[in-house]
Amino acid sequence: MLGKATAALLGLGSLARAVAVPQDNASATTSARVPNSTSSPGSYVPSAADLASGCANIGRVAASFARTPESRTATSFQVDSKIAYDCLASIPLEKEPALDFLFELSKFVQFQSTITYLARPPANSGQDPMDILGGLTDIYNSVDSGSITSWNELETRVDALLSGCHEGHLYVAWPLPSLINFRSPFSLMDLSPDGKQASRVYVASDVRASSSTFRPSEITQIDGEDVVTAIERLTYYEASQSPDTRWNAAFQSQNPPKLGSFYARPRYPGANTFTLTFQNGTTTEYRYTATALWQSESNIWSVLTTGQAIWDRVINVDPNTRSSRGSGASRLRTRALEEFRKRKLNNEQLDETFRRLEKRQSGSNTPPPQSQLVRYNSTFPDTPRVRPYIQDINQVVGGYFMADYAGDDSKTAIIDITGFAPDDPNGRFPTHAVQAAVELFLAEAQRRGMQQLIIDVRGNGGGYVNMGYDLYKQLFPNSDPYSGNRIRYHPASLRIAEAFTQLIDQDVINGLIQAIGGGMGENLSNAQANAYQVASYASLSGLDQFLNLDKDGNKFNTFNDFFGPQNIYGDKFTSILTYDLNNLLAVGDLSYDVTGYGDRASYRNRSPPFTPENVILVTDGVCASTCGIFSEFLRNQQRIRTVVVGGRPNGEPSAAVGGTRGAQVIQHTAHMLNFVQIVENNFTPRDAAEQQEWNNIFPRPFKLNIPEAAVNWKDNIRRADPTETPLQFYLEAADCRLYYTPQTLSFSHELWAQVDRLAWGNETDCAVGSLKNATVVTGDANGVPISIGSNGDTGFNSGYGDTPQLTGDKIIDTAKFIWYGVRNSLGASGGRRGY
Ligand SMILES: *[C@@H]1O[C@H](CO)[C@@H](O)[C@H](O)[C@H]1NC(C)=O
Ligand SMILES: *[C@@H]1O[C@H](CO)[C@@H](O)[C@H](O)[C@H]1NC(C)=O
Ligand SMILES: *[C@@H]1O[C@H](CO)[C@@H](O)[C@H](O)[C@H]1NC(C)=O
Ligand SMILES: *[C@@H]1O[C@H](CO)[C@@H](O)[C@H](O)[C@H]1NC(C)=O
Ligand SMILES: *[C@@H]1O[C@H](CO)[C@@H](O)[C@H](O)[C@H]1NC(C)=O
Ligand SMILES: *[C@@H]1O[C@H](CO)[C@@H](O)[C@H](O)[C@H]1NC(C)=O
Ligand SMILES: *[C@@H]1O[C@H](CO)[C@@H](O)[C@H](O)[C@H]1NC(C)=O
Repeated sequence: MLGKATAALLGLGSLARAVAVPQDNASATTSARVPNSTSSPGSYVPSAADLASGCANIGRVAASFARTPESRTATSFQVDSKIAYDCLASIPLEKEPALDFLFELSKFVQFQSTITYLARPPANSGQDPMDILGGLTDIYNSVDSGSITSWNELETRVDALLSGCHEGHLYVAWPLPSLINFRSPFSLMDLSPDGKQASRVYVASDVRASSSTFRPSEITQIDGEDVVTAIERLTYYEASQSPDTRWNAAFQSQNPPKLGSFYARPRYPGANTFTLTFQNGTTTEYRYTATALWQSESNIWSVLTTGQAIWDRVINVDPNTRSSRGSGASRLRTRALEEFRKRKLNNEQLDETFRRLEKRQSGSNTPPPQSQLVRYNSTFPDTPRVRPYIQDINQVVGGYFMADYAGDDSKTAIIDITGFAPDDPNGRFPTHAVQAAVELFLAEAQRRGMQQLIIDVRGNGGGYVNMGYDLYKQLFPNSDPYSGNRIRYHPASLRIAEAFTQLIDQDVINGLIQAIGGGMGENLSNAQANAYQVASYASLSGLDQFLNLDKDGNKFNTFNDFFGPQNIYGDKFTSILTYDLNNLLAVGDLSYDVTGYGDRASYRNRSPPFTPENVILVTDGVCASTCGIFSEFLRNQQRIRTVVVGGRPNGEPSAAVGGTRGAQVIQHTAHMLNFVQIVENNFTPRDAAEQQEWNNIFPRPFKLNIPEAAVNWKDNIRRADPTETPLQFYLEAADCRLYYTPQTLSFSHELWAQVDRLAWGNETDCAVGSLKNATVVTGDANGVPISIGSNGDTGFNSGYGDTPQLTGDKIIDTAKFIWYGVRNSLGASGGRRGY
């Protein structure tokens, strides 16, 4: 039913971005509500001659690169940052398609579950007010009035608006950073001598070169600005809510392996050079460089010789109509998607579901035996010095015994899991393989009499939701994981929910489950396979009454009980939803049962391999999405103690879970457009008025070459919270905070050793807090979370919402457009004229 185009789209993962927004002189004058640029004080503004020659200059570099042997395998080549920016800044835009894109984006962002919370953040959330719709309206009006004429500026400004929300599930996957991006000549490291004294910032290569004759000198200033302020500014637009997690993004690390955002700049840094001042008094100037996309089979830069050519051939290309004009466009699209995928803030469940469906229809869906899903004692990318006892074949999770590599009688085991999905989207049986590795590891841990467990989730941006549930259930088999989800009300969500609930009712569900049987079901008829596809989208959307349970784990009696809407925080939401983990359609991954449910129900009777007071969760703040769900189970239901590493050198408490705690991301093209297509394929509008309404409320394809956009779709609400505030608006302090030392940064087992000493050995205090005090309190006396966040405004953002707003007549033609909710809720809040 959904056709080939859909199938192709399903191959696309979901994405999230990290962006350092360039200094953009023009933006200072065109809108009061665009956040301050991140970069200062440099502000390079190309001349008319620079703009005219920028792309042609890249072409000249490309022509000589083409003659080198590297060009046969390279995917990029280096150019000077000045000519790269000259080229980007020369890309024009055409009003009509640009406005159309902003309009569609404005429709889509209304599905961001927290849009009202972002516009009016709760006290102490640490979040600056960000009025997404108001900001998009400003940008729309600026394009309409001709004050934004550069596509690069449009990308940059929309990016700043969405990134300022610090919501990893909210993003647009832009084409330009995949075409040209920037870098510094080296990475930085943030190090403390003992993990407890506040950290200092160093050039990474200096740290590596350090010896008895060379002691690296710390950086005190960047471009003449205090280094702490400069890095806070650089990382302001990172995706995490916690400023300490954002801080960590700047630096190099080993687990997970990354070079950091000081080094890798998706966008122009604002200047062509920068200076570092060191403690020893030296100030040195360095040059940024740029890398440009290279396709070995054809030199795209022989065609993209002007900004206009990039607009015509790369940006203003409708991906829905195959056009020969699209030189480089489809490659760019793929690359943009891959880059975003690396961030792992995914909901890859649907992709996996469809892979399984295809495999099942070809009769190859049976997972191999456990022994073929794991590897013993082989190298693991995050821990080059020590090998895990066991890992899954896709290298998602590693299980270690400290005694194996320390050679002592330690009773500590370690689970290292830097994501809940493989980096490689073609990884085989990812959920089964992780389930098997964890199961075999825990059995061995019990056989060896292990008493303590460290779970290292550093860098874990999420993945398959059911994998997070499964890991929790393997650790605590008889506990029922609670994650209270809800979806923002929107007239389109209502229409989609009505359609799914009608199409996939209890009878259809029962019939499908019977046909699929234990999950292999090679013999599904075409009709059943089609129904299964629709059911998969219904399941993914969360918008089917019969595929959800209520907050107490019971079925909803009526559609209205399920859908609501409930009035909360001046906005509207569905009722609280929970997963029906016994229903394989609701869990969304055929033939995979979460431990404790379905075929694995009997595991529920097993005793937990570790007691909660002997489990420690280690994060670097980057714990988002599925990791946020998993850590909420551990912390709120088991009172597991947490350690957070890194952060600003301020000696203050820091959040263990610093990324989005939203429970699901939904993508515009891969997901939402398919929900809409299912409605429109199966139902006909009553009359012209209803047709008109559908056109107004349903998102439509982007006609520019924008690979994807996404929103946070489901909130995660703690049961004990009477205000029902989405969890990302609480920054909950870790029990113990550490900084990295040169040893713990480079070698995970050194960090695990320090955590082990702090939790069960003779080391007492952390940099902040302690693990020795086992009374873990989550929230106040009633269990309501307590946030360590400030009252917003870290000083780098002019703050949407607290500067004068546009008046109603300037809003994007509201006659053809729904501004649902925010308009009213903003109007009600003090001092801000609303939409
Ligand atoms: C911004 O641009 C204007 C005119 O183009 C120029 O006069 C001004 O100096 C620039 N500002 C900065 C900070 O570079
Ligand atoms: C000062 O420290 C920096 C960074 O370690 C180093 O590159 C530079 O050579 C040092 N300067 C002097 C004069 O020692
Ligand atoms: C693991 O592999 C290493 C390197 O091949 C080897 O030295 C070591 O003995 C192996 N350990 C076990 C427990 O098999
Ligand atoms: C599928 O069909 C084959 C051949 O007709 C049959 O042997 C097999 O039992 C069927 N499988 C299921 C799950 O019904
Ligand atoms: C802590 O224990 C380690 C051995 O586990 C020992 O080497 C160290 O000296 C002890 N430190 C203190 C302060 O007791
Ligand atoms: C343990 O933590 C609680 C709550 O923070 C505190 O009141 C108590 O004094 C602590 N106990 C020890 C031994 O540090
Ligand atoms: C951000 O912009 C506001 C308004 O233009 C300004 O008052 C503030 O000083 C700026 N902050 C920084 C850090 O530049």
